[in-house]
Amino acid sequence: MTTRQNLVGTAQRRVDGRAKVTGAARYAAEFAATDLLHGVVVSSAIARGKITRIDSKAAAAVPGVVKIYTHENRPRTAWLDSSYSDEVAPPGHPFRALRSAEIMFSGQPVALVVAGDFETATYAASLIEVAYAAEAPQTDLDRQRSESYVPPKKRSGIEPPPKPRGDADRAFAGAPVRVQQEYRVAVEHHNPMEPHATTVVWEGGGAITVHDKIQGVTNTHAYIQGVFGLSADKVRVLSPFVGGGFGSGLRPQYQLFLSVLAALDLERSVRVVLTRDQMFTFGHRPLAIQTVSLGAEADGRLTAILHDSVQETSRFEDYQENQVNWSGMLYRCDNTKLGYELAKLDTYTPADMRAPGAVLGLYALEAAMDELAYATGIDPVELRLRNYIDDRDQNTNKRLTSKALRDCYIQGAERFGWSRRDARPRSMTEGRELVGWGMATGVWEAMMQKTSARATLTADGRLEVATATADIGTGTYTILTQIGADALGLRMEDVTARLGDTSLPHAPLEGGSWTAASAGTAVQIACETVREAVFKLARRLDGSPLANVDLDHVTFRDGRIEVTNDPSRSVSLADAVKSSKGGKVEAEETASPSMIQQMRYVAYTHSAVFVEVKVDEELGVVRVTRVVSAVAAGKILNLKTARSQILGGIVMGIGSALHEESVLDHDFGRFMNHNLAEYHVPANADIGAIDVIFVDEPDDKASPIGVKGLGEIGIVGTGAAVANAIYHATGKRVRDLPITIDKLL
Ligand code: MOS
Repeated sequence: MTTRQNLVGTAQRRVDGRAKVTGAARYAAEFAATDLLHGVVVSSAIARGKITRIDSKAAAAVPGVVKIYTHENRPRTAWLDSSYSDEVAPPGHPFRALRSAEIMFSGQPVALVVAGDFETATYAASLIEVAYAAEAPQTDLDRQRSESYVPPKKRSGIEPPPKPRGDADRAFAGAPVRVQQEYRVAVEHHNPMEPHATTVVWEGGGAITVHDKIQGVTNTHAYIQGVFGLSADKVRVLSPFVGGGFGSGLRPQYQLFLSVLAALDLERSVRVVLTRDQMFTFGHRPLAIQTVSLGAEADGRLTAILHDSVQETSRFEDYQENQVNWSGMLYRCDNTKLGYELAKLDTYTPADMRAPGAVLGLYALEAAMDELAYATGIDPVELRLRNYIDDRDQNTNKRLTSKALRDCYIQGAERFGWSRRDARPRSMTEGRELVGWGMATGVWEAMMQKTSARATLTADGRLEVATATADIGTGTYTILTQIGADALGLRMEDVTARLGDTSLPHAPLEGGSWTAASAGTAVQIACETVREAVFKLARRLDGSPLANVDLDHVTFRDGRIEVTNDPSRSVSLADAVKSSKGGKVEAEETASPSMIQQMRYVAYTHSAVFVEVKVDEELGVVRVTRVVSAVAAGKILNLKTARSQILGGIVMGIGSALHEESVLDHDFGRFMNHNLAEYHVPANADIGAIDVIFVDEPDDKASPIGVKGLGEIGIVGTGAAVANAIYHATGKRVRDLPITIDKLL
């Protein structure tokens, strides 16, 4: 069979772009319902202690208020107290809103005010008086690290650090060149543009339709069933559009619980939208105190790598991520020792945030590598090439499906002009500004998850491809449209992708950069099945010009099936479909990762990030004027949306390096800058030229369609590259991100 891929691999505009910019694409808080009620959340003013009294009389007296929920009158609808879990819940006990008088984190929801309109609910919520018996919160990781512990093994699905290799302590002690430093990145909050929100539509008969801000409807679906004891057929969850996620939408958040609770109790439709302030009351990238020790020969060859992390988690869950394992696999080294511990704080549980673990771990490792480059006097790119390994993953001893990182270094350096770098700090200037060039490596896992998809070809010659997965802004609608169109020889506009609905074939969360590989493969397989079925129909047509031809000798093109070496003999897809019994040809298929391949191989994406900064020393102002990121991520489905993913990751990495910081006041145990005025993310004016290179990386094992995924690799290493460039410009080695003005003056 000839596969003419004329769309996959090209740059295509987003098929959902027009819907998004015209407002036709609707988000969780935008769905209408008859007699919709509005719930507003009252947040705890303390971080730890107990509610001693809650007075909602004045609020209840406001005309239009329907009901006020607190821990004192929480209805029994949420009766399965032990089942508050979800697809990515870490070990422990997920937070249960309004369950008791106990306060476990600042901003914890203590009441939900439900009224006929949002303004009334907001006003009434301001009248609720809560008295607390407060205890001193412990939110300082530097103090709590003395009580750190090794997290329970593997229960979270996160691989614990591998066993030590060789004798890292001895090798480090005896190494001719040594670097040993502590590195930190400030707590960050995801801050997607779309706030977390849920609209629950009461359908009668105990059934609900839930429009939730979630990166995967099946997670919300299972959560509602678990918590409220509803059967699967009573709940339908939709999130066709998600206004950014970055991981904050992986787990069901408390507005979902509260809106469903009220809807079931009142037998009405209810919407709850969290405020921007409240977006700082759940899930954040954790603070971790990391120590990296590198030992090397004078020629730069690594003889010892030690990497330890102590990371915060909540009192109630052991949130874990992979921060240190990367240091055991990225560079060739015989002696490694990796450690990872948690310490409990009185905050909400941290959450996965774009490249969780890798952003922190690779910042530390790659900043230390830069320090080693200066300690040995070896160029940073050359240092990495001297320690390059491509035959296996040293942590697992498995083979790599592919690794084109060397090409990333070479092509990235070439494009950036790295060879013109004068390595001496403070040696490069332009006018009154210091110029710094820094680089770093990025790495992320390439995963595939079991995913189902359906393909339906109708008699009008149109194809629909459908799977429950979300498009969190990454371009999933577009790439699935391209795959479907190519498989059946159609144009983009002849194909519709449907996503984000539990009535569609099952898919896991959109996360971990696995969606393109997983949903893409599922759609590909479903379309191949449709292709065979429609071909059979075409061959059976009366007097079919394809009667004696087999599938290997036809081409699907322009809505027709034609004999490859005699295109004058052809049948239209529409005619073939019309001859089918139901007037359509449909197939549902499930794509699963190959177990045998997973036993023998591991797959990673890689990048080499090159950054130019300009620093005005008198003002302490840093500008990132130029970034080149060379990425190896297997097959690229859509050059435009792929580039956008890398751009977004780089911008977020610049935010991590220079801007983003959630400031905890340890007296209050509260994030103080809980708004976008004081929590800084890069604005357009902060971003200079960004150049993205996709190096060629054929891979037939990472996933059946050769795709590795791109959602996360763009951010990894970017923070280190910026910090390394700032060192080169200024001679100041700042080891805690973000590098704000005060740290440079
Ligand atoms: Mo990502 S942190 O898996 O949304």
